[in-house]
Amino acid sequence: MSRPARALLSAQALRHNFQQVKRYAPASKVMAVVKANGYGHGLEWAATTLHQADAFAVASVEEGIQLREAGLFQPIVLLSGFFEPAELLLIDGYKLSPVIHTEQQLKQLANYSAHRPFHVWLKIDTGMHRIGFDVSETKKIYSRLQACQAVSKVSVMSHLASADEKTKASTKLQSKLFLEKTQSLEAEKSLANSAGIVAWPQTQLDWVRPGLMLYGASPFNGSVAGDVKLKPVMTLESQLIAIHDYEKGDAVGYGGDWVCPQAMRVGVVAIGYGDGYPRHAKAGTPVLIRKKMAPLIGRVSMDMITVDLRKLSGAKVGDRVVLWGDGMPVEGIAKKADTLAYELFCHVTQRVPRVTV
Ligand SMILES: Cc1ncc(COP(=O)(O)O)c(C=O)c1O
Repeated sequence: MSRPARALLSAQALRHNFQQVKRYAPASKVMAVVKANGYGHGLEWAATTLHQADAFAVASVEEGIQLREAGLFQPIVLLSGFFEPAELLLIDGYKLSPVIHTEQQLKQLANYSAHRPFHVWLKIDTGMHRIGFDVSETKKIYSRLQACQAVSKVSVMSHLASADEKTKASTKLQSKLFLEKTQSLEAEKSLANSAGIVAWPQTQLDWVRPGLMLYGASPFNGSVAGDVKLKPVMTLESQLIAIHDYEKGDAVGYGGDWVCPQAMRVGVVAIGYGDGYPRHAKAGTPVLIRKKMAPLIGRVSMDMITVDLRKLSGAKVGDRVVLWGDGMPVEGIAKKADTLAYELFCHVTQRVPRVTV
């Protein structure tokens, strides 16, 4: 048998989550965010499974081309636009829709003669202060984009900085500013990410841009997928590959900093940071074996972790171990590792086979 670490991917859950987006935002078109290899789930797999999406959003021309070559015909938005003018030829050839967020991009675009003029998204900064033209320049930049030979249509987007914090005033301010500054433009508008879609309906507008929620994780601190009617798409699983009985005082793993408080059984699971399991997961981070929680003990190694089997007397070598996903919310694991579900998904490495179930 080959190494048992696998990421099971539920197409049914991905489609369910897409339908939830439609329920939360019934009047909006959906731009499914599939960048970063579909948040680690597989770019093509995510996009082809979400073939009902109205558009896809990626982070690079390469990802856009991959989707076109996989046969996807929907608009494909490049969320950071292009990084050098040579990419304009590819954008033109593959009918991609770049975000334009800097003066430099705008000038390069203005100097480009397109074979087939393409759709662009003007990105304005309403308070996130990451990328985008200053909101006060919206009308002026919009007109300059409209005047470009290469541009067939201009839409407008901005990004929310704190939509996951349901009581923070900044989302209301960003939304108000965005509407004010784009009101007079005959353009399609987009503002909401997953948290905006669920918690701030006023941000839904013409297009919503869900990422995380499609993959079945809650965008809100302290809540899990089920709380927002989502289903986990990825289940990271492996197996127990060894079981040992140790004495009180025996130290387990690198550094020997976890010491058995009594005579006990310790299980070894074939998963580690080489698979994307977080190295900073603390002792006590749960794994699921035979429908019971077993806590992580000792340090996470590259290929293995060790778990406390004191409450699992029936555990056997070969037992399935769920690290996150079905029955083991990824949000809780992220918390134990001082990170976010976003990062756990994106970090699942290439050596972990993705298996559609
Ligand atoms: C511009 C933009 N829109 C939408 C998204 C999707 O965000 P989320 O995964 O929180 O739904 C992202 C993600 O980083 C983004 O950068």
